[in-house]
Amino acid sequence: MTDDIMDRIAGKMEKCGVVPVIQIEDAEQAPYLAEALTEGGLPCAEITFRTPCAADAIYKMTRAFPEMLIGAGTVLTSEQADRAADAGASFIVSPGFNDRHVEYCLGRGYKMIPGTCTPGEIEKALSFGLKYLKFFPAEAAGGIKMLSAAAAPYKGVRFMPTGGINEDNMSAYLEKPFVFCCGGTFIAGSKDISERNFGKIKETALRVSQAVKQNTEKRE
Ligand code: 3PG
Repeated sequence: MTDDIMDRIAGKMEKCGVVPVIQIEDAEQAPYLAEALTEGGLPCAEITFRTPCAADAIYKMTRAFPEMLIGAGTVLTSEQADRAADAGASFIVSPGFNDRHVEYCLGRGYKMIPGTCTPGEIEKALSFGLKYLKFFPAEAAGGIKMLSAAAAPYKGVRFMPTGGINEDNMSAYLEKPFVFCCGGTFIAGSKDISERNFGKIKETALRVSQAVKQNTEKRE
């Protein structure tokens, strides 16, 4: 099944290389965070529904920086999915694979990147026509070795490893053709956001975006 919009979204995520996974406590900080990430060369974010202000933060970021790609993460219920989409989220990520939840999101036309960790879950995703999947929790589940083995039988399926990704291990994932991007909280941690350390967040984003660019150039 082809989905041009999802392909375009995944293409933007691939260009960033790493999608900052965000836990934000105060939506007022969202535009400053968006600015730091954009200036750091990573104009994208996955705002997790781990805090009550997630939808508000998505709304504020998409309004202030419409060129950014903003998605919602840790989306566990239909109600959260609706709130994320209404706020302007371009994609929805969940940590695990819940058939009912995936069916609901796809039925509403939401662009969904569900979490998978086993061949069984990957095959369930395939049966829904999905080809962009989160691989979670990446490092704890066996890292690049586990993902390489699990991805091998499924041609065309591409993964966003998340969980334990950092500046030291991200390149090993990104050089695999079955990885379209990584996700991680290491670019903008909740403490740095709360303490308004946007300069530090921008610097980390710059280092990551430059490393991603160098890796891409090396492969071309
Ligand atoms: C997620 O929410 O997707 C993960 O918990 C992020 O994991 P990390 O904190 O190890 O990057």
